[in-house]
Amino acid sequence: MLPRLGFGYTSLTMSIPAKFQQALARGLVALRSPAARLRRAASKVILLFALVSALAAAATPPNSPPLTVLVFGGSGQLGSLVARAALADGHKVSVFARESSNMQRLQGLPVTVIRGDVRESADVERALKSQSFDVVVDALGRSESGVEFYEQAARHITRWAAPTGVKHIIHHGSVGVAESRAAYPPKLFPERSPLFVSKEAAEKRVRESGVTYTIIRNAVLRPLPRGQADRAQLLEDPLTFGAVSREGVARLTVQCFRDPRCSNRTFHAIDAGIQYR
Ligand SMILES: NC(=O)c1ccc[n+]([C@@H]2O[C@H](COP(=O)([O-])OP(=O)(O)OC[C@H]3O[C@@H](n4cnc5c(N)ncnc54)[C@H](OP(=O)(O)O)[C@@H]3O)[C@@H](O)[C@H]2O)c1
Repeated sequence: MLPRLGFGYTSLTMSIPAKFQQALARGLVALRSPAARLRRAASKVILLFALVSALAAAATPPNSPPLTVLVFGGSGQLGSLVARAALADGHKVSVFARESSNMQRLQGLPVTVIRGDVRESADVERALKSQSFDVVVDALGRSESGVEFYEQAARHITRWAAPTGVKHIIHHGSVGVAESRAAYPPKLFPERSPLFVSKEAAEKRVRESGVTYTIIRNAVLRPLPRGQADRAQLLEDPLTFGAVSREGVARLTVQCFRDPRCSNRTFHAIDAGIQYR
């Protein structure tokens, strides 16, 4: 059985204070006992506190320096949310966008804009050589281009990622590709099949790029309904099919920047609280 990795609700850093609280509660109960028991209990609490503090320190990276991030498709619906989430997490963000791209979604944000067309290898080369990027996110959608766009874009990004020292590529793909075909509604599949062929070729390029990768497939992207909690998760089961919010996918994308559980893995993003119809 494939592992289910849910990054949605808990994290190592969140579970430790809960344990600490329980330990503290046990200690407080012991404090109501007579003097001898009290001293023993107090020393146990101190030991527990030291252990829990050490575990917490190990689970939380100490003041990690910001990462340099380049978002392809950064002016788009998903890409702009990735840029926002990365900035909120303290990273240095650049976006790759065409001269004609509508930059409205990024207005007022401290991002560096690198102009170019991803269909031009030389533009991608110039962008990736403009500075040293730790993370590259591909959140591109094809706009007016044909379906071959996805393979072409991935070819150009992966051509220049390893030689320019990129450490991690996060690629946004689609459910329906490769082994996830069985998850896709059969009625819709024939019409989208050429798109999935191009997207599968794009994924292959990313896996063979020589750079650590994370592939996040989506089936249906929706805005997060007003007032609803973001419960997006990444699952490794290739039969996962459903809707997920762009906000949730953006959050998970940024979480993957530093999470080793994302390295060289392919996930499906889903939020069980969002209807896809
Ligand atoms: N929408 C869904 O339900 C759904 C479902 C499954 C998977 N996905 C995938 O999720 C990803 C993002 O979706 P989205 O809805 O956020 O897309 P989107 O809003 O359409 O954004 C697409 C981005 O790609 C850019 N782009 C297009 N052609 C380009 C080019 N030649 N050079 C440089 N940039 C170019 C666009 O810029 P311009 O303004 O210049 O065109 C825009 O910033 C895509 O991979 C999509 O296939 C979406």
